Amino acid sequence: MPIIAPSLLSANFLQLEADCTMLNNSEADWFHLDVMDGRFVPNISFGPMIIEFIRKATNKVCDVHLMIEEPEKYAAAFKKAGADILTVHIEACTHLHRNIQQIKSLGMKAGVAVNPHTPVALLENVLADIDLVCLMSVNPGFGGQSFIPKTIDKIKTLRGLIEAGGHNIQIEIDGGVTLDNAPAIIAAGADVLVAGNTVFGSADPVATIRALKTAG
Ligand code: DX5
Ligand code: ZN
Repeated sequence: MPIIAPSLLSANFLQLEADCTMLNNSEADWFHLDVMDGRFVPNISFGPMIIEFIRKATNKVCDVHLMIEEPEKYAAAFKKAGADILTVHIEACTHLHRNIQQIKSLGMKAGVAVNPHTPVALLENVLADIDLVCLMSVNPGFGGQSFIPKTIDKIKTLRGLIEAGGHNIQIEIDGGVTLDNAPAIIAAGADVLVAGNTVFGSADPVATIRALKTAG
């Protein structure tokens, strides 16, 4: 069964505690936390302070997706805030290998995210070093966008690279995941489904999470 990681970007921040409690009582596996700086992406969301509060509200895995430039300046702050997984964008890291080593030396799992235009082949020389690849299936910056179909090919290509190298890496799909496309995403080889709008925009988020969990 896939790991389900609801994105808190689509939560109601006036009742964040209630939304965290709802997720705690659901089959959600991870909390996906989207950090945006208004430079790497054209939107600003939240930073370590909010994550520190969320950390106090859950024992589930805090999966922090940094859509920021110069992530090395903030990695320690996100560890302190309670991140279990810290994902940086390949497009934001001139010295990606160094960024990955920093994250691991701080005691977090290391993820690398790739934008829709970025070939997964560019990850080849770091696959031995990372725990997760986040394939962006929308252009990062906003929730509620449509899934880019080309992502399905990228999942298959990446799955092939991971298996050929014998790596232990989870493939996470982020953006536009719905109950309709989840089966194809899982069949292509994804391990983790991020879902913002599909979960928080539904009448019954707990039932929607269960449906995603059993999709495919
Ligand atoms: C987009 C974020 C996503 C977003 C997904 O920049 O990285 O995690 O919250 O939202 P949905 O599932 O609504 O596309
Ligand atoms: Zn994300």
